[in-house]
Amino acid sequence: MRVGMLNGGGDCPGLNAVIRAVVRKGEGRYGHNIVGYRAGWRGLMEGDSVDLTVESTHGLLHRGGTILGTSRTNPYKSDDGPAKVREALERDHIEALIAVGGEDTLGVAEKLSAGGVKVVGVPKTIDNDLSATDYTFGFHTAVQIATDAIDRLHTTAESHDRVMICEVMGRHAGWIALYSGMAGGADVILVPEEPFDIEEVCRRIVHRHRRGARFSIVVVAEGAVPVEGSMSVTSGDVDEFGHVRLGGISNRIMEEIAQRTGYDTRVTILGHVLRGGTPTAYDRVIATRCGLEAIDAVHERDFGKMVALHGLKIVRVPLSDAVGTLKTIDMAVLDQAAVFSG
Ligand code: F6P
Repeated sequence: MRVGMLNGGGDCPGLNAVIRAVVRKGEGRYGHNIVGYRAGWRGLMEGDSVDLTVESTHGLLHRGGTILGTSRTNPYKSDDGPAKVREALERDHIEALIAVGGEDTLGVAEKLSAGGVKVVGVPKTIDNDLSATDYTFGFHTAVQIATDAIDRLHTTAESHDRVMICEVMGRHAGWIALYSGMAGGADVILVPEEPFDIEEVCRRIVHRHRRGARFSIVVVAEGAVPVEGSMSVTSGDVDEFGHVRLGGISNRIMEEIAQRTGYDTRVTILGHVLRGGTPTAYDRVIATRCGLEAIDAVHERDFGKMVALHGLKIVRVPLSDAVGTLKTIDMAVLDQAAVFSG
């Protein structure tokens, strides 16, 4: 069988481990030919492909990024996009497609699948906000990088008696902020799921300092929003899936904290650092297991499914279960983190 493979959306540590696993088992065990498409749906529509072989995918396990490249191209943005995808699959004699992505990429995969295209999905996003799976690879790596950064901010915050704000990715869900904030001992954690009151944030910081602390750490998800009317914010450009480009809310928070409390305050925006570099051991294992399960599903012609982590097991769920609703944080965990706040 000729099996196409692509990844779409933001890159994520572990993507190369998936590619390696699909090829190793797909070609090595099943004798399938794996064709990789560059830059997500764009490469498929434009015929930009590369044959992936066991030989050509050696040494990938620990490499960050994706050898296939990626993009946020949305075939459903143009009327003829879905037809172009179908024509491309026919042209290249592709019988089945493995799509690795988050909500957007798998949303496209799900629509194509409903239209008869034979697709298997693999979940990925550092944001960990995809439904129907307990966890997406890339998240653990992002949390580790953020935690390392927060540890480092601690020592310089202590030396200078400063309030340090650390902004992490997380557009609609605050998983990275919550987990790195807990792991790094943050004093305040702000997430998109719960609009923050800047007055309350300042109150907690001042309370802590009055009790003897000389510094504070505030971890902010890039998608955190203030309670309406409490603070002005700016909005940015929009991508093909309609998402605003974020990054910068912490600068406004810094101005407000400095002005309202008088404390020396600084910002660090981690941004794409969280998506770069080698995956953690855990993410390598999950990515590898997802890749192996995806090629098994293809081999068994079990299409329209997404591989998923449920507890400790890799299972298959309908693609439609994964898209439509984002998996936001467990507010009970945010409440637990609040014990260490202020
Ligand atoms: O892939 C998810 C994500 O990392 C979000 O956390 C972030 O808002 C977005 O991608 C950034 O996208 P881009 O790399 O296109 O700027």
